[in-house]
Amino acid sequence: MRIVSVPLGHRSYDIKVGPGLLTTLGTECTRLGLGRRCAVISDHLVAPHYAAAVRTSLERAGIESVLVTVDAGETAKSLKTVQSCYDQLAEHRLERQSFVIALGGGVVGDLTGFVAATYLRGIPFVQLPTTLLAQVDSSVGGKVGVNLKAGKNLVGAFHQPRLVLCDLNTIKTLPERELRAGLAEVIKYGIISDAVFFARLERDLPKLLRRDPKTLGEVVARCCEIKAEVVGQDENEGGLRAVLNFGHTLGHALEAISSYGKYLHGEAISIGQVAAAELSARLLGLPWNDAVRIRDLFARSGLPVAVKLTRAQRKRIFSAMQLDKKVSGGEIKFVLAKKIGTVEFGCRVPRSMIELALDFQVPAAK
Ligand code: NAD
Ligand code: GLY
Repeated sequence: MRIVSVPLGHRSYDIKVGPGLLTTLGTECTRLGLGRRCAVISDHLVAPHYAAAVRTSLERAGIESVLVTVDAGETAKSLKTVQSCYDQLAEHRLERQSFVIALGGGVVGDLTGFVAATYLRGIPFVQLPTTLLAQVDSSVGGKVGVNLKAGKNLVGAFHQPRLVLCDLNTIKTLPERELRAGLAEVIKYGIISDAVFFARLERDLPKLLRRDPKTLGEVVARCCEIKAEVVGQDENEGGLRAVLNFGHTLGHALEAISSYGKYLHGEAISIGQVAAAELSARLLGLPWNDAVRIRDLFARSGLPVAVKLTRAQRKRIFSAMQLDKKVSGGEIKFVLAKKIGTVEFGCRVPRSMIELALDFQVPAAK
């Protein structure tokens, strides 16, 4: 097992990465003194696989649990689902000494975290991420929230979990498309912070695609280390944390204009990161060869790297980008790369350049 700490003073917590960790949940919650009653929030595809094991582990530790199941998929990240969770928590008389467990992917994690942040003005929560994307990104760092029709994550809070348990065995049941979507966030860490890690991904991609446990464990832990370091320095995104949004400005807008249906989050930010690499080559001197390597790694991961938009869709993309949280003073700000492993945030990009990036495709490698 690997342990990564998120250094946030009295709100510090551990991310544990390894196979079979779900069964340790009860002991871990007791060690943290989280209380004797909890709700496990999961979705209807994840719960049948793992909820029983989770609840047995809690029961063995003398912790009573209730299971709350929500729909699977991005549309569950809504205020309507939040309301339904509040009602079920109240019905089961969860009080201040209770806690909540998020068992699922990023959707369940973001939703449950928001419920935990707001129910009774805030109760503790634990993350049990079951997708690659959630293990390397969304379960860490305390950003929780839900979507509005107008845009992604427009309602939310910062509420850190007390513990994150990344049980690598859960990745075994993850659908192929979801595994590939998770790779989009994995690759992001190489681009924003670690050129050696990026080169490792280029080499070890086949092992990741076949879910080799040793490679998965090392890669998940490295991503968590990078995220923990960034969040430890800038918890509330005063500045540096923005680097984690590489490719997300366009990615979030694509998700919003397709009503959170066409693209998975990982697929949308794959397109967004390739476009950001193209902008980086034009505006920040990212070597074109790096832009090609970036595009190729996403393509080899089976992720989309370009999008064809009608005029009307393009108009909607720009309105969606205007609503993104990365906009300040009406200006759309991008995270751009100087080279693989080094990025800058807060880069102003003229609309004409964004239009160009949407039309242009990074040239194929020779
Ligand atoms: P998801 O939660 O929708 O899960 C993907 C699908 O896989 C769902 O259908 C789910 O039921 C299923 N699934 C999950 N685990 C499974 C397993 N082990 N076996 C079988 N099926 C399983 O999607 P996701 O990609 O995990 O998360 C995407 C969300 O995360 C987006 O809403 C995105 O905005 C959010 N996100 C948040 C942060 C953050 O910092 N809070 C960071 C990145 C992404
Ligand atoms: N995924 C972006 C962040 O956690 O800040």
